Amino acid sequence: MTCTATIRAYLQKSGSLRSEKLFDTGSRSDQGVGRAKIQLFGCAGKAGGYNMIKIKIGIIGTGRIGKIHADNLIRFPNAEVVAVSDLFAGPELEAWAAVRGIGLVTKNSLEIINHPDIDAVFICSSTDTHVPLIKQAAQAGKHIFCEKPVSMDIAQTEEALEAVRKAGVKLQIGFNRRFDHNFKRVREHVAAGTIGDLHIVKITSRDPSPPPKEYIKVSGGLFMDMAIHDFDMARFLSGSEVEEVYVQGAVLVDPVFAEFGDVDTAIITLRFASGALGVIDNSRKAVYGYDQRVEVFGCKGSVTVANDHPNSAVVSGADGVVSEKPLHFFLERYTQAYVEETQIFIDSLINDTPLPADGNDGLQAERIALAAKFSYVLKRPVKLSELTELRHQMAEMV
Ligand SMILES: NC(=O)c1ccc[n+]([C@@H]2O[C@H](COP(=O)([O-])OP(=O)(O)OC[C@H]3O[C@@H](n4cnc5c(N)ncnc54)[C@H](O)[C@@H]3O)[C@@H](O)[C@H]2O)c1
Repeated sequence: MTCTATIRAYLQKSGSLRSEKLFDTGSRSDQGVGRAKIQLFGCAGKAGGYNMIKIKIGIIGTGRIGKIHADNLIRFPNAEVVAVSDLFAGPELEAWAAVRGIGLVTKNSLEIINHPDIDAVFICSSTDTHVPLIKQAAQAGKHIFCEKPVSMDIAQTEEALEAVRKAGVKLQIGFNRRFDHNFKRVREHVAAGTIGDLHIVKITSRDPSPPPKEYIKVSGGLFMDMAIHDFDMARFLSGSEVEEVYVQGAVLVDPVFAEFGDVDTAIITLRFASGALGVIDNSRKAVYGYDQRVEVFGCKGSVTVANDHPNSAVVSGADGVVSEKPLHFFLERYTQAYVEETQIFIDSLINDTPLPADGNDGLQAERIALAAKFSYVLKRPVKLSELTELRHQMAEMV
């Protein structure tokens, strides 16, 4: 048995080797044998036992999402977070890292990217930094997990993907909703043919409260910042590309959105290459909490999933029937999905299995978001095949 085969057998036995066929959308343009060298510890270890393979990780950006990924990764036996970097690194971050056994804390992301022991980097910094960091990491031969969106400019995203392709490293995009226990089951039913040919995909995606003005200003707008997850869901659930987008948008929650040419409420209709239709409804404010529901409907039936709640207690009384609001926001609702997406990334590096949400998935969701933006401004349906021409005509928007 080769060294890799021995490790694979060990992982299979221990249950750490995950299925590589869980997800099946999109082409795999940035797959390939990684250049980064994963260290395999203990392959020729003592008879009867193997030490675990450890993927060494550096995290760039330790804000909300970077810390979530760090806390998940340090619990995995086959990953080790060796370094974190943040522009505001200081005593507070050092103390946070020390508790977690993370030895290196730096302000300089290049220290992580060029660190000889690091196999993979997690890019969790603000969106405007993703493209340069992806290019640098790819050039240094590191595998990459990058938060969504790759960028707000599809030409830049294409450049980043080209750097990844050239370097032959892996790139996973943080489309965590693909790993949500509910949505994953919906996809499995669609793929298994339970509901037959798909006719309609309905996605409801509403935040509990709008972000602050400073965030709105740089967010890239509702389509690129918020609905990007829903565009990925639409592709993931249907297993089909989107061909056409038509948007109705409005400012109904807070006039501040209008100041930045943004909307806070939207109905987005989609036409898929398969012929199916889709509708996404977005709001920046649902007073009852984070509203994340899906229905897929086909010739043999439908699959629906409801919101998750902190508990299922229902109190019935003379004045009515009351239950808990849905889980508050994405950190609460997608806790399990964040764990799973990172574990699958680590497994993919160990087993060289395909990534479930790759660079092309990131690009396709951005293309739909751009079509949505154009549709809102032009007040007409926009085909994705028109994007190149519209990008020239409306250069100031891209
Ligand atoms: N998948 C999801 O559910 C999800 C949820 C939230 C955010 N995100 C994405 O994650 C990214 C970060 O979002 P956040 O909410 O954690 O933001 P945040 O502002 O809380 O954290 C970003 C951190 O990155 C640091 N940073 C910025 N530039 C840096 C650089 N060059 N080097 C090192 N550190 C740098 C900042 O100092 C900050 O601490 C965004 O792209 C966002 O869209 C994804």
